[in-house]
Amino acid sequence: MTQAHKILVFTDLHMTVTPREGCPEPASRLRAGLDHALATNADADMILFCGDLTHWGDEASYRRLKPFLDDLPIPIIPMLGNHDDRAAFRSIFHDAPADPDGFVQQVTDLGEYRLITLDTLLLRGEGEPIIHAGELCAKRMAWLNAALAGAGEAPCIIAMHHPPHVTGFEAMDGIMLREGEAFHDLIQRHGNVRYLLCGHVHRMISGVHRGTPWAVFKSTVGQMPLVFRGTDSSVENHDPPAFGIVLLNDDGVIVHTEDFPVA
Ligand SMILES: [Fe+2]
Ligand SMILES: [Fe+2]
Repeated sequence: MTQAHKILVFTDLHMTVTPREGCPEPASRLRAGLDHALATNADADMILFCGDLTHWGDEASYRRLKPFLDDLPIPIIPMLGNHDDRAAFRSIFHDAPADPDGFVQQVTDLGEYRLITLDTLLLRGEGEPIIHAGELCAKRMAWLNAALAGAGEAPCIIAMHHPPHVTGFEAMDGIMLREGEAFHDLIQRHGNVRYLLCGHVHRMISGVHRGTPWAVFKSTVGQMPLVFRGTDSSVENHDPPAFGIVLLNDDGVIVHTEDFPVA
């Protein structure tokens, strides 16, 4: 068995300019995580930043985040989550990938594998309140359909901030991807998706949904406590932060998670 490719997964950075009360300082957490990743996994092909890059979706937070991502010696793929703002992100990350409709999603080939990163940030009008559920609108679903068709027989990995199915946390299941079953219908029709990589829940969780294996990764800041019932999706604890390590080889996919030390 040969190890062909390695993807690191950082998610839910929740960058702010000043720390939120009772929460870890996001920039020092990110620094610690990236330093640990570079010290232990400098041979990675790619680092995914799987959404909730900032907490408030403000330009100042993206401006604070940008040098961390610009200075990495490993190619990165930024993605958006419910705490992000597409226009503010784009105003700072000018060169970020975009599909023809302006969504922050792209296709990246890693050897025989095809990595598809999706933008599940819900579209909303100017001044409309934030809705934390995820969305794959008709345009994004059509783009994904074309990406999967274009992959043919190539094994595909899909990364997306919002899990497209329940994860067992009542509050988070209430703000998962709205079009989850339509998403699973689509990937089953193509039959070439081997694994789903997600964020949003701030906890290491894995499972299989309708035959497709998936993993959710820990945040670099606060983590989801083991409270399955309840309606508060913002609860956090101070469990150690982590990043994911995804190995793609000739035989399949291996998913690790690595807690990193913090001061
Ligand atoms: Fe988050
Ligand atoms: Fe989220």
